[in-house]
Amino acid sequence: MAFPESFLQELTERNEITEVVSSYVKLTKKSGSNLFGLCPFHSEKTPSFSVASDKQIYHCFGCGKGGTVINFIMEIENLSYPDAVRFLARRVGMAVPEDEKDGNHSRREKMLQINRDAARFFYEQLSALNGEIARQYIKKREIAPAMVTRFGLGFAPDSWDSLAEAMLKKGYTKQELLDAGLARASKKGGGIYDTFRNRLMFPVIDIRGSVVGFSGRMLGDGEPKYMNSPETVVFNKSHNLFAMNLAKKSKMGYIILSEGNIDVVALHQAGFDCAVASLGTSLTPEQARLISRYVKEVVIAYDGDTAGQKASQRAISILQKLDIKVRVLRLSGAKDPDEYIKKFGAAAFENLLARSENHIEYRFSDIASKYGLNTEESRVAFLKEVTGLVAGLPNAVEREVYSRKAADMAKVSADAVLSEVERVRKKLLGQAKRKQESENSSPLRSRQPRARNMHYENIKSATAEKGILRLLYYEPTLFSDAVELAEEDFSVPLFGKMYREFKELTKYGSQPSLAPLAESFTNDEISILTEVLNGPLELSQSEKALNDYINIIKTEKLARQQISSAEENKLLDISNKLRESKSYRG
Ligand code: GTP
Ligand code: MN
Repeated sequence: MAFPESFLQELTERNEITEVVSSYVKLTKKSGSNLFGLCPFHSEKTPSFSVASDKQIYHCFGCGKGGTVINFIMEIENLSYPDAVRFLARRVGMAVPEDEKDGNHSRREKMLQINRDAARFFYEQLSALNGEIARQYIKKREIAPAMVTRFGLGFAPDSWDSLAEAMLKKGYTKQELLDAGLARASKKGGGIYDTFRNRLMFPVIDIRGSVVGFSGRMLGDGEPKYMNSPETVVFNKSHNLFAMNLAKKSKMGYIILSEGNIDVVALHQAGFDCAVASLGTSLTPEQARLISRYVKEVVIAYDGDTAGQKASQRAISILQKLDIKVRVLRLSGAKDPDEYIKKFGAAAFENLLARSENHIEYRFSDIASKYGLNTEESRVAFLKEVTGLVAGLPNAVEREVYSRKAADMAKVSADAVLSEVERVRKKLLGQAKRKQESENSSPLRSRQPRARNMHYENIKSATAEKGILRLLYYEPTLFSDAVELAEEDFSVPLFGKMYREFKELTKYGSQPSLAPLAESFTNDEISILTEVLNGPLELSQSEKALNDYINIIKTEKLARQQISSAEENKLLDISNKLRESKSYRG
């Protein structure tokens, strides 16, 4: 945590929330200790924005926003967490502890600075005498000098401490090197050694242009081929994409998503300046959201092997949820985009892009190759699967186009496929409507969270989890070490994480409060938490409530595990049957 807890406590005490909010919102007293006003975060005619002076939190019943005075300032002044803290400190004339110590640099800024200096060091090593081996490797991979500059490629020398030594000389501390993931602690003696040694270095640069981490490739064969910076205060692999800082400026209008760093470099070199890569993981929802801020179309250019195909499927479903148009490239004759361009040239790749299938066509070809389409039986199976796919398309024109295509592939009349698609669609719509109706009439419905991107899979458990968080907040003494409940027991990961953070705070005897959490959670998450803390509370029976909640959470967890293992068994059963029927046919 960047700011000491005692400082935050004093800060939030001196910045009384109703006072702070009053300078932005006209508040009137209405019930108990709550003040009400028109919400500044959404437009409304009747007040649903409340400030609770006893809890020192605000919450809007209309849009769901809420949190502490720090969150309020972050939202309304559009400031980052540390800047909102500084804003409030200035308001009451408090000195910010870090600012005194580090001459105006927060820990985050310091970390970015050391990363930038490390990137410069690696870059310089490329032209040093010892850099010959890396220069050779770059030449062998046919990476042009312009690309070395564009990506800021570098070389981590084959030495235990050349980076550490250079950074210490610049005034950084061992601890800062460790915190940035640039060095590791030796087993004994308190020394440190460089994390990256004898590798080609790719700085990972975020969209603001800050170096947040590194990816280092071996110069040649060997394991592990790539090494990434560990998670740090500034680096989160699942939130960053390699080269997004460059691709966001591209005029192409779409993003090419590839697997390897080298693929990205090769693509940019060939003129496709919109290529990015996820950092060794398959595409995450956060990365997809990052992309969706810039473009509405993505071309997936993953490796042609089965791992690449599987990763494509996953990426498709993530991107589709964000309304991003997805096309998939099929590489033939080369294992990845880099090899393809080296073998066949940029023009051939351009051609491939033009012919890339949208994800429906891509699925069609996949399903076709699964069944073969040589026999009547296989064509029927193919049609059955693709009609289900086409029936789910919301656009009628698309349904018609793809029905025709499917008919063409299976060599049957288009009308037959079309009418079958519409029949399946009616059935799907009916099902969806009934499901919606039953959800609407269910009392559980009101227990779903208001936040749009959140949905409780297990409402019973989620309700108990919320109860646990309230108890922990209002009566932390109940939670001795004897309470056997872990983060993993929670069905809602966000609640689990909050539970862990709250417990962490209470471990040292302090009352859990929201202020120190503002750094580890987003404003939306704090809003959800505020809503939870505002829920019904029965403290007279708190001990019994605690036991009940824990029982529910554990029972539901067990039930979930049984369901998933039952599903697995079912799948196993089906695949066994398939295998049997295959061998039967010979
Ligand atoms: P080349 O084989 O040189 O063409 O490498 P590449 O950059 O094309 O990477 P590749 O397709 O082999 O792997 C795709 C991505 O997965 C890389 O860019 C890395 O981010 C990641 N990756 C590959 N190997 C490893 C590994 O051993 N460890 C980790 N952490 N990540 C890896
Ligand atoms: Mn590759």
